[in-house]
Amino acid sequence: MEYVLRCTGCSLTARDYASFRCKRCGSVLEVSYDYSTLVLPAGFRGERIGSRKYLPFLPVRSLSASLGEGGTALACKRIPKYKGVNLFFKTETENPTRSFKDRGSAVEITRALELGFDRIICASTGNMGMSLAHYAKHAGIRATVFINRSGNPEKIRRIRGFGAEIKAVKGDFNESLREAEAYASSSSAFLCGDYHYRKEGQKTVAYEIAEQLRYEVPDFIFLPVGNATLLSALYKGLKEYMMLSLIDRLPRIVAVQSSGCDPLVKAYNRKEKIGYVKPSTVADAIAVGYPTFGTEGITALSETKGYAVRVPDEGIIKSMRHLESLGIYTEAGGAAAFAGFRNMYEGSKRVFNGKTVVVLVTGNNER
Ligand code: F0G
Repeated sequence: MEYVLRCTGCSLTARDYASFRCKRCGSVLEVSYDYSTLVLPAGFRGERIGSRKYLPFLPVRSLSASLGEGGTALACKRIPKYKGVNLFFKTETENPTRSFKDRGSAVEITRALELGFDRIICASTGNMGMSLAHYAKHAGIRATVFINRSGNPEKIRRIRGFGAEIKAVKGDFNESLREAEAYASSSSAFLCGDYHYRKEGQKTVAYEIAEQLRYEVPDFIFLPVGNATLLSALYKGLKEYMMLSLIDRLPRIVAVQSSGCDPLVKAYNRKEKIGYVKPSTVADAIAVGYPTFGTEGITALSETKGYAVRVPDEGIIKSMRHLESLGIYTEAGGAAAFAGFRNMYEGSKRVFNGKTVVVLVTGNNER
């Protein structure tokens, strides 16, 4: 499909990778397609799900860096306590590096190769760095990951194990992000991370949910939020399938954060602008004090009549154990969405009666 990059703040357009943020106002960019140029192959609907299927919806010519990401299971679990609810879990932990991040990395690394880069850098709380390091290694390019020096040691070890360079940052994710962006502007490395190309790869999770439910839209989709890239990607993917009349309505999206790091929940519920929150949570994956795609995330929630809920760390840990008892292995950040569902269900059982609920289980790399 033909596209331009459009600023999410002031709508200024750029032809292609001119920058990772708008040169005029500093906001993040988005890929804005000319949908009249979309060509779907005959038999598209019947094709097996997985990121390669969705190439016509992606801003790349091929998906040369793909390592088989996507195509994860959507399993219905009968849990006696929630017996009136059709409860599905989308296990993104089945991706090559055990998180949904691989969907975005396949697109970003492909784009880096198409543009002739031999090096990428990114800021991460861990999973994204690990995913990019793995994809970069397979593509034969170097990777540097900026990460909080007191971040999850197992994740840091695995990033190094994939051959990437670690830049240990004193400070939280947002400090790592500042350092990575400053470094990128004075180096010849391709800046990856929670920006426009990644968002495109991650929207494929929405297509898969729609297809796995035979185009019957669920009533709710619960997901954890850090930078809100996945949230805004999910919304974009759903809207694209609506536009193609593959689905006929949108689900309510429920964004979940830890009580110890809840900038999006605060802003959405108080109808305020997003402010920075100093992260303090066991869910290290989603310890993001100021979400990069926060404004777009809030739009996704308000346009789907969705909710933003916070859960205490104890609830996240309990949910992680509960998932384990169902045979679903996840880290704390990956269990947050289920914790959000459990909390909301306690407060409003009737709302969920007879409803179809999809819970994203996003990662499994803590230990
Ligand atoms: N779940 C997991 C397991 C994650 O690693 C992340 C984000 C999220 C959910 C939230 O997604 O940021 O798009 O809202 N991890 C990033 C990282 C920040 O660097 O790995 P988001």
